[in-house]
Amino acid sequence: MFYEPRLRNHGLRHDPFKALVVPRPIGWIGTVDADGRPNLAPYSFFNAVADRPPMVVFSSAGRKHSVANIEQTGEFTCSLAGYGQRAAVNMTSATVAAGIDEFALAGLEPEPSLRVKPPWVKGAPAALECRLWRVVELPPSGPERGDAHRLVIGEVIGIHVVDGYIREGRVDTGAMRALSRLGYMDYAVLEAATIFTMNRPEVGADGRSATVSDAPWDGVYR
Ligand SMILES: Cc1cc2nc3c(=O)[nH]c(=O)nc-3n(C[C@H](O)[C@H](O)[C@H](O)COP(=O)(O)O)c2cc1C
Repeated sequence: MFYEPRLRNHGLRHDPFKALVVPRPIGWIGTVDADGRPNLAPYSFFNAVADRPPMVVFSSAGRKHSVANIEQTGEFTCSLAGYGQRAAVNMTSATVAAGIDEFALAGLEPEPSLRVKPPWVKGAPAALECRLWRVVELPPSGPERGDAHRLVIGEVIGIHVVDGYIREGRVDTGAMRALSRLGYMDYAVLEAATIFTMNRPEVGADGRSATVSDAPWDGVYR
């Protein structure tokens, strides 16, 4: 099939776009408003987009509380949830009134951050402390600008990794059991059994051919 999203001519019950770009990591975005009241919500239009310095993005359909708070304070956290936190992640997506603390709503304990005011989620395997770089307004879907997505771009200025997830000098990604989002109401969990390793291709001296070694990774990024 082929369809053009603006024409909505997919012929299906739901636009399948979000079921195709998968799995999407979930940024569990912690913010505070101008009065210091905490807010927490999951965003799956979320990803890391650079590593020198590390930068993350998330996008909000319209100007939701998380974006409004970040525009006021310039700071946010991204907790990275594990499978065990799936129900709490879901609960914190409830569209409650501004100023309502979703940490409390979902029975979560806020963990104080070290470089920014918003807390992160105690029990998450890892979390990022971020400083706002820019908010970019994406094109609206129709004549109204209000529903346009706001793309929040932040620099990661502090990174928490719970010690138990570090093994032999590396993050034990499989142990984190990272939760991710698919389309519809579907989710996925990253399990150790599905992780595999491949070496990068090594280009021959003539610059025209490449080979890949089957040997275990030697620990050097190439
Ligand atoms: C797993 C998950 C991922 C979500 N991803 C997004 C997203 O990427 N963008 C968005 O606008 N809403 C997303 N939502 C919905 C928001 O979490 C929800 O609208 C929430 O109430 C926003 O909270 P806030 O107004 O406090 O920022 C997601 C919900 C869930 C459960």
